[in-house]
This record gives sequence, structure tokens and C-alpha cells, in this order.
Amino acid sequence: MIPKKYKAALRDKYGPPETIRIEAIPLSPLKNHQALVRVQATTINRTDQGVLRGKPFVFRFFTGMPHPKIKVLGTDFSGEIIEKGKDFKGFEIGDRVMGFRDEGLGSQAELLKVDSNVAMVKIPETIDFEKAAASLEGFHYAYTYFKAARNPKKIFINGGTGAIGSAAIQIFKANGSMVSASSGKKHLDQIKSLGADHVFNYENLDFKSLSKDYDVFLDSVGKLNFKIAKQILKPRGIYMSSELGPYKESLFLPLLTRLRKGKIMKFPIPKNIQESIETAAIYLQEGKIHPLIERTYSLQEIKKAYQHMESGEKIGNLILDLDP
Ligand SMILES: NC(=O)c1ccc[n+]([C@@H]2O[C@H](COP(=O)([O-])OP(=O)(O)OC[C@H]3O[C@@H](n4cnc5c(N)ncnc54)[C@H](OP(=O)(O)O)[C@@H]3O)[C@@H](O)[C@H]2O)c1
Repeated sequence: MIPKKYKAALRDKYGPPETIRIEAIPLSPLKNHQALVRVQATTINRTDQGVLRGKPFVFRFFTGMPHPKIKVLGTDFSGEIIEKGKDFKGFEIGDRVMGFRDEGLGSQAELLKVDSNVAMVKIPETIDFEKAAASLEGFHYAYTYFKAARNPKKIFINGGTGAIGSAAIQIFKANGSMVSASSGKKHLDQIKSLGADHVFNYENLDFKSLSKDYDVFLDSVGKLNFKIAKQILKPRGIYMSSELGPYKESLFLPLLTRLRKGKIMKFPIPKNIQESIETAAIYLQEGKIHPLIERTYSLQEIKKAYQHMESGEKIGNLILDLDP
């Protein structure tokens, strides 16, 4: 039975987690090119933070100006197709699926209507909904950096505990790199168990003491800079960061460093979501990744989940369980 109403997490304006409310909203009729998904799990991640707050401001060109285009929050999902329009191709009712749209999707809700142009794949049979949801946003960013890294022999990943960092450790290991990674002292065992060969406590790490033969330095939490990374990179090594930096240097350093023909900065824009999540499904099926999940929240606890994500202290992925 398809319900007439469903619960969703929504807001009217950009703002902090306190602006979120849970409401039962009516289900409008499905269009021919849409499918209806009963959402089982989503994550509360950094892209959701951008969609919630409309920050950085440039985000609003995609998510709506001056107010959000989509009131219901959520950018990723795992769930089951329970209805489909006659022109929705490639999936059937009963399929277990996962998908992601970084401009906002409205997936922090019990039901979700997806258009045929949303990046989506079937979930491998052995993978549960929580693991599937936790293999989307962070994996997409990490896989984008992997593609830009040109199969490094040796990589340093700063911030191995984040959604991006934890996926990056596993992707680079699965592809044969020697991985060094950093975390806070209490999570060193955690990043080791993700596969890092060498682990370092970022609180007292002196990069001068490390060897200077790294092919790639990935700052997956955007806390350092090119000057620090250069100390351990080979002459033509690559530095990448997940953040723009305090002077928005990620926008111009890639061009400047390329002109100088030495160590370079790359700032890859994560674009091909369909390719990333197809790869995530394969990696999950082959046991190459085991997404890091710190904690699961219910829909009623969503404000707390956003506050936790924004605290900068979450590790891996925070799950929102829509079918407790
Ligand atoms: N604009 C966007 O749409 C977007 C999307 C995705 C990601 N990003 C950016 O990408 C970055 C990573 O996001 P994420 O979700 O993977 O992770 P995250 O939530 O930012 O990472 C949290 C972890 O970072 C670690 N950390 C904190 N300070 C650190 C430091 N100085 N050095 C190394 N690690 C440190 C902490 O590890 P310990 O607990 O071990 O201390 C913490 O557990 C964020 O800066 C985010 O803004 C932006």
C-alpha cells in the first residue's frame, strides 16, 4: 500500500540545524519518468551541510536563490523501489537501490521520488541499506581524488577518519598504493584497521621527520596547505585538498603550480556521480571497501545528527535510519 502522506525533514530557509522540522507531507502523484523509493537510510554529511546552510554561497546557484529550491533535506539514499512511472527505465519495482545528487534530492524522508536522471545503481545483494548509504558521498569525493592521483606508489592522506579520508584509504589500498594516514590519537587503530600501512597522530606530527618520496598528498579534511605538503612530496608530486583554503588558494594554485613545472596542486571537481557510485557498488560487492559508520540516528534525532556532523568530530559516516 502506498501511503498518502509521509514524514520528511524540511526547512523553509537556509540556516543551522535548529531550523529543521519533521512534518507529515502529502505524496503528490508520480510522473511517468519517476520512481517512488521507500527510503531505508541516508547519511548526514558535509554536502548536506552545504545544502542546509547554503554555504559556501556559490552552492546557492545550484540549490536555489534566495531560498532553497527543495525544502526537504538529504542528498543520498538507499532504499527500495515501490512504484514506477511507465517511462522510468532500467529499474523494477522491488529493486534495492542507492543514489546521490549533490545539489539536494529530498531524501531525508520516508519516501522519495527520483527522476530517471538521478545517479542511481542497484545495491549488491550482500550489502545492507546502511552500508550502501555510507558508500556514496564520501566515496564519490575519494574516488574523484583517486582518478586525479594517477596510481601513486606512495600517498599521504591527512584526516583518515573523515567520510572522504576513510573511503580514500580503502580505495588507494585496493589499487596497490602504500598508504600513510593521519588521525587524532584516539583513532589511530581505526585508520590502521581501514588498511593504512603507516599511521600518524596529526596533533604532534612533524612532517620534516617523514621521508620526502610521496607521490601524492591528499588533505581530505582541508586543514593543511601546499607549503606543508611540499615537504614530503617528490619533485613532481601532487597535492590535493578537499577545501578551498583560507585565501581560496585551491582556485588559483593549480594553475600557478602548473606554470612552474615542479610540485603541483590539483583541485578536482567531483562530477561524474554515476561512475563513482557504480564503482562503489563493485567495490562493495568485491569486499574492497567496508564503509566506516560511526553512529545511526532516527528521523526524530535529525537535528542532533546535523549538530554532530558540524562539530568536526564525527568519524566516517553518520546514518539516518528511516525504517527503524
Ligand atoms: N562543500 C561540500 O559539499 C563538501 C562535500 C564534502 C566534503 N567537503 C569537505 O571535505 C572535508 C572532509 O569532509 P568529511 O566528511 O570527509 O570529514 P569531516 O567530517 O570533516 O572529518 C572529521 C574528522 O576530521 C578529523 N580532523 C579534524 N581536524 C583534523 C586535523 N587538523 N588533521 C587531520 N584530521 C583532522 C577528525 O579526526 P579525529 O577524530 O581522528 O581527530 C574528525 O573525525 C571537510 O572539510 C568538508 O567541508 C565539502
